Amino acid sequence: MISQTLREARKYEEVSEKLISERERPDFHLTPRTGWMNDPNGFSYYQGRYHLFYQYYPYESKWGPMHWGHAASSDLLHWEYLPCALAPDEAYDQDGCFSGGATVLPDGRQLLMYTGVVKEHQERDIYREVQTQCIAVGNGIDYEKYGQNPVLDERDIPEGSSRFDFRDPKIWRKADGTYACVAGNRPADGSGQILLFTSPDGFSWKFKSVLAANRDRFGKMWECPDFFPLDEKWVLLTSPQDMLPQGYEYHNGNGTLCLIGDYDEESGTFKETHNQSIDYGIDFYAPQTVLTPDGRRVMIGWMQNWDSCSMRSPDAPWFGQMSLPRELFLKNGRLYQRPLRELEDMRRNKVNYTNVTVSGVVTLKGISGRKVDMELKIRPKEGQELYQKFALRFAQDDTYHTSLSFRPYESILKIDRKFSGSRRAIIHQRRSLVNPVGNELKLRVILDRFSAEVFVNDGEQVLSATMYTDPGADGISFFANGTAEIDVVKYEL
Ligand code: FRU
Repeated sequence: MISQTLREARKYEEVSEKLISERERPDFHLTPRTGWMNDPNGFSYYQGRYHLFYQYYPYESKWGPMHWGHAASSDLLHWEYLPCALAPDEAYDQDGCFSGGATVLPDGRQLLMYTGVVKEHQERDIYREVQTQCIAVGNGIDYEKYGQNPVLDERDIPEGSSRFDFRDPKIWRKADGTYACVAGNRPADGSGQILLFTSPDGFSWKFKSVLAANRDRFGKMWECPDFFPLDEKWVLLTSPQDMLPQGYEYHNGNGTLCLIGDYDEESGTFKETHNQSIDYGIDFYAPQTVLTPDGRRVMIGWMQNWDSCSMRSPDAPWFGQMSLPRELFLKNGRLYQRPLRELEDMRRNKVNYTNVTVSGVVTLKGISGRKVDMELKIRPKEGQELYQKFALRFAQDDTYHTSLSFRPYESILKIDRKFSGSRRAIIHQRRSLVNPVGNELKLRVILDRFSAEVFVNDGEQVLSATMYTDPGADGISFFANGTAEIDVVKYEL
């Protein structure tokens, strides 16, 4: 049975979607069918296609009572909208269906696990959101919420842990056919922890262990965990709130954290060996991964950040985009990311330059566009002193540009969108420490109308940022203070 609330959302999105033209959206990055989008949810492979759900408020381009929007794709780049999957329509989720994951049941049905939110009156006019974990089961389009929801609540968490910050279950089916999930929570110390739960059937759950404890090291509450094996190690991704910078790591208040380590499944313990930011740009949060049928671990994040939402006016017809799908791998104890290889099938009209001398501003014939895949190698010019600064400007016209600049003496790469159409005095730049190999810095820049994702040195770092200038601002130029030499390979997408 489809509730009135869900029926209305489905009717509304079907009509409103038609009011948004294709040119007003990115081409291969998923945006909400209408209204607001935040976190990716239920990222999974089901019945021969990828499914991506998302935190969704269809009625306005701002956050509201959370629904789950839904889209499917066979290549992770071309998405088809499906009807809104979940609406806040039960007593246990009446104030929101928050983030969660998805898996497949042995009988072929898809199981969604999400956080049900209910506001509880505290005193005077103060309310707090109680969060529990809930289940819905369906066929890839329609989902029925489980009669015995919630399946995890305050009785299932360690003593002293918060029932107000207990959310974002990411579920997976284990090789033996049983299930596990990780969820974010706040222990008595007020910072974050990731809890691990297990289930024989996906419906009845019990607490297994505290998989990881923040102990105030990386921000406060840990949101949206994901946990998976990768190249002989295990990786825990989470998005901490209220982070403090450490060197050039963790500069986004609502940041991202990758912990790499070893996992003992028997006892449910995870021993961390390395930590790093997941993305070093301005807009990236709450990523989720899927395992592809050919064994790749692919991650998509919300290409936005809670602190920079005022970047775009609330009158815009949609708000929030997903990042490019990124293939993950480990190298030298670090998480590396590369653009999904299927993106290469979309490349058209190659333009190639080698050994171009850049001193002052340079533009190159055929190098422009807002849907671009561009590889850039930057090095000092032989026989010349090391340049002071190299810059790439894109999404450029007389008024606007977004830029990347590199200062080799400091080894700092900066992304800057001060001139990218924002009318708000918010943070518009981010710096990252990068490691040129033998004096050469390698960048791959992917533009899709309203975003730039920069993969540094084959994915050692990634910087993501959105920009909402008119796609007519499509100039690209190069600049060096001193003399640099570059190779450029550019494709239209
Ligand atoms: C992270 C988050 C999640 C929550 C959702 C609500 O961006 O705060 O923890 O489930 O957004 O929309």
